[in-house]
Amino acid sequence: MMTGAPVHAAARPGRPVVIEAAVLDERQYQRICELVRRRARIELGNAKRQLCQTRLLRRLKALGIPTFKQYLALLDDPHAEEHDELINAITTNVTAFFREDHHFEFLAQHVLPERMAANPDHRLRVWSAGCSSGEEPWSIAMVVREAVPEGWNTRILATDIDTHVLARAEAGVYKEEQVEPVSLARRKRFLHRGSGANAGKVRVGAELRPLVTFKELNLFEPWPMKGPFDVVFCRNVIIYFDVENKVRLLRHFHDVLAPGGTLVLGHSESLVAGVTGFTPCGRTAYRRDRG
Ligand SMILES: C[S@@+](CC[C@H](N)C(=O)[O-])C[C@H]1O[C@@H](n2cnc3c(N)ncnc32)[C@H](O)[C@@H]1O
Repeated sequence: MMTGAPVHAAARPGRPVVIEAAVLDERQYQRICELVRRRARIELGNAKRQLCQTRLLRRLKALGIPTFKQYLALLDDPHAEEHDELINAITTNVTAFFREDHHFEFLAQHVLPERMAANPDHRLRVWSAGCSSGEEPWSIAMVVREAVPEGWNTRILATDIDTHVLARAEAGVYKEEQVEPVSLARRKRFLHRGSGANAGKVRVGAELRPLVTFKELNLFEPWPMKGPFDVVFCRNVIIYFDVENKVRLLRHFHDVLAPGGTLVLGHSESLVAGVTGFTPCGRTAYRRDRG
C-alpha cells in the first residue's frame, strides 16, 4: 500500500464539485484498464467501460475533481495514494455467508477430517484468498469451530487487495439480512445482535475472532507466508485474470498447499491447462497430489 504521497493539486477532497466531463472516453478507459491490469492483473475488457465510469465518477466527487483528464493526471504519479483507491473502486466484491454452501458441507465432512488425520501435530491452516468483506472466512470459521476439537492450533488467514472491504471484514458487523444464509443455531452461537446505534445489525462474536487474521495482499505481489496450508479457498477471484496469470497463481497455490491439501475455486472456475499436480475431489475442488 502506498502512503505519504501528496494529493494532486487539482484535487479538493470534501469540496462540492461540478463534474464537467462525466464521460470516460476510449483513450482514458484504455489507460484505466492498463493501470488496473498492471497493478492487480484484473482484465476489465471492453464491456466494463460503463461500470468503470460510474465507479470512478464517485472518486471524482470524493476528491472534488471535475474531469477524468485531471483524475488521470493524478495517476501519472506512480506513488499517488489514488492508485490504491482506483483498485478499491474497480474490484467486484460480491460475496455472501455460506455462498455455494456445498463447499462448507464438503469442508466439514471431508476436508477437515482428512487434514486432521494427516496432521499429528494438531496444526491446521486455512487461507481465504480474495476474502472481500469477510463473509467467506467467517463462514469457514464457524465450520472450523464446529468440526475441530479444542486444543488444535487452527488459524484462518483472510486476504484481499481491496483495503475498504478488508476493513469491513475485520469489523465483522453485518446487516441482519446479510446473515440470513447462516443457520439459526449458528447465528445463536457465533453472532451477536446489535443494540442502540447497531440495532438491525449483528456482530461476529468472541468465539470466532481469534481464529481469523485479516491482511492486505495483492495475489501478484510476493506472499509473506510460506504455508503449508491445509485448505485454500480462492473462489470467484481468478475469473478476473487472463490465462497466463491464472496459471501463475494456481501454480503458486500448489506450492503453498500441503501435499493432500485442498484448493477450492468458485462455481464458474476450474484449473487451466498448464497447471498440474492437482486431482479433482469435489465440485470445483482440487486436492494437491502427494509427492
Ligand atoms: C467477487 S469477490 C469474491 C469473494 C469471495 N471469495 C466469494 O467467493 O464470495 C473477489 C475478490 O477478489 C479480490 N481481488 C481481485 N483481484 C485481486 C488481487 N490481484 N489480489 C487480491 N485480491 C484480489 C477483490 O478485491 C474481491 O474482493
